[in-house]
Amino acid sequence: MYNIKPDTFDFKSVKGISMKQLEEHYKLYVGYVTKLNEIWNIPYIPSNYTDSNPTYSKMRSLKLGETYSLDGVKLHNLYFQNMTNGNNTPCGPILDAINREFSNYDNFISYLTNVGLSMRGWVILTIDSIDNKLHIIGSDLHDTGAVWLSYPILVMDVYEHAYFMDFGTDRKKYISTFIENINWKVLNERFQYYISLKKPVNMSRHITCPMGFF
Ligand SMILES: [Fe+2]
Repeated sequence: MYNIKPDTFDFKSVKGISMKQLEEHYKLYVGYVTKLNEIWNIPYIPSNYTDSNPTYSKMRSLKLGETYSLDGVKLHNLYFQNMTNGNNTPCGPILDAINREFSNYDNFISYLTNVGLSMRGWVILTIDSIDNKLHIIGSDLHDTGAVWLSYPILVMDVYEHAYFMDFGTDRKKYISTFIENINWKVLNERFQYYISLKKPVNMSRHITCPMGFF
């Protein structure tokens, strides 16, 4: 039985975005959690999937719904976490990395803002395992443009549902308000966690597989 629970967030700590806007957004997030549990609790019964094909089929609908709701849950978790609970002064190792890799903080904010103005869904500052450097990724849907083996440091929702109630079409004002609410402690924790994952693995305990398995 799968039973993912929605996280809770201190929306009272957010400045410049109304409680009504945040609560309505939260309802969408809870909806993704509900659908994810519903999908994951559907038992696999082979006789229910005799029509499987890549144009339209029950399995195709299920798998598209699964990635959409799963990524929707994860992205909203990361987004709400990194915009609540204060700690709004840029600082720490993540700021050093930003200054190093984007020339300076203002350049980073300009880049982040322009990606935010250009995408229909998400902007993600990520550290990618291919080069261990920071990149700003844009995506139009929860599960479109997602990058494998890339670790999210900062997530910004730019769907209209994230800001339209408060800001109308003024997305730039929403983005600047979001930036003022960034929790830099959270960003530093994510950055440090990624660095800890990159430490050399102790290979003294060898992994063995049964002969003839491969
Ligand atoms: Fe959203």
